[in-house]
Amino acid sequence: MKNNKKYILVTGATSGIGKAIALSCARYGHYVYGTTRAYDENKLQELNDIIKQEGLKFEWLELDVTNDASIAKLSEALNERPLDVLVNNAGFGVLGPVENYSVEEVQKQMDTNFFGVVRMITKFLPKIAQSQTPQIINISSIAGILSAPAYGIYSASKNALEAYSEALYYEVFHRGIRVSLVEPGGFDTGFSANSIGLNSDELQKQPSWYRNIIKLRSRKVGSDKKVVSSSRDPMRVGELVLAIMNSNSRRLRNFIGSGAYTTYLLRRYLPSSVWQGIMKLVIKRFS
Ligand SMILES: NC(=O)c1ccc[n+]([C@@H]2O[C@H](COP(=O)([O-])OP(=O)(O)OC[C@H]3O[C@@H](n4cnc5c(N)ncnc54)[C@H](OP(=O)(O)O)[C@@H]3O)[C@@H](O)[C@H]2O)c1
Repeated sequence: MKNNKKYILVTGATSGIGKAIALSCARYGHYVYGTTRAYDENKLQELNDIIKQEGLKFEWLELDVTNDASIAKLSEALNERPLDVLVNNAGFGVLGPVENYSVEEVQKQMDTNFFGVVRMITKFLPKIAQSQTPQIINISSIAGILSAPAYGIYSASKNALEAYSEALYYEVFHRGIRVSLVEPGGFDTGFSANSIGLNSDELQKQPSWYRNIIKLRSRKVGSDKKVVSSSRDPMRVGELVLAIMNSNSRRLRNFIGSGAYTTYLLRRYLPSSVWQGIMKLVIKRFS
């Protein structure tokens, strides 16, 4: 393996954005450790066929980021192995009006999307720090930068990730450890199928503004098996993450997809009163 080839750990590599990152990195020639909560030959057959046909350096390891014992087992498996880059991608959504969710349900969201990353970084930072090219890439979301109706709980988890990652970025910068955030907009992945708050039973109990937003959303959004437009293809995120790895860029935030950067600019530069007015109009329009 040449010196510029890296050993990369991608959490949640079975579908969507994680799969795209893992494939982009492996196709470039990097060695990828891809994780799944429970290895399932049938579920992973399509991806395994690609790995085999293309002769990719790809290894499956089991990991549940909410489980300390699982993280300890992964750490043991990688004990004598090199590791240069950790990509924290594993995550899911809890969507819908915030008042509908109990503390326990909100904690579950935080446990994967935020504490899952905290656990991984706490465990693997010392190992990554030994690499010649140490790097951590956290997959956040445009929802981590702003909070919109129906996205409050998901946004809270990604907003916590944003704050944590930004502090880490400053704290390890002088040790040569690169930290990046990626803020995707909408991409066609397993996200909708794996999110809580989107199935039809759950929707019936929701206020009309939420049901109408979801109706509109479902017309525009594809799935892990069906990408509705090239702009929503998660491979774009895969290519971006590979580019972040291969460049010397020290940029902390990296927006990509479906108006993510425009939304960020609007949120940043519009007066708060105007932004809040727009959000109130959304509820009124969909009620
Ligand atoms: N799709 C979008 O539009 C979008 C936009 C912005 C940000 N994101 C973020 O992108 C990341 C990937 O999501 P996706 O859209 O690609 O969704 P996805 O297709 O549902 O993939 C989610 C991945 O996370 C893994 N995962 C879930 N919970 C886990 C846990 N407790 N421990 C370990 N792995 C776990 C799943 O693995 P298993 O196979 O083990 O279930 C799966 O590989 C998430 O952090 C999401 O918040 C997505």
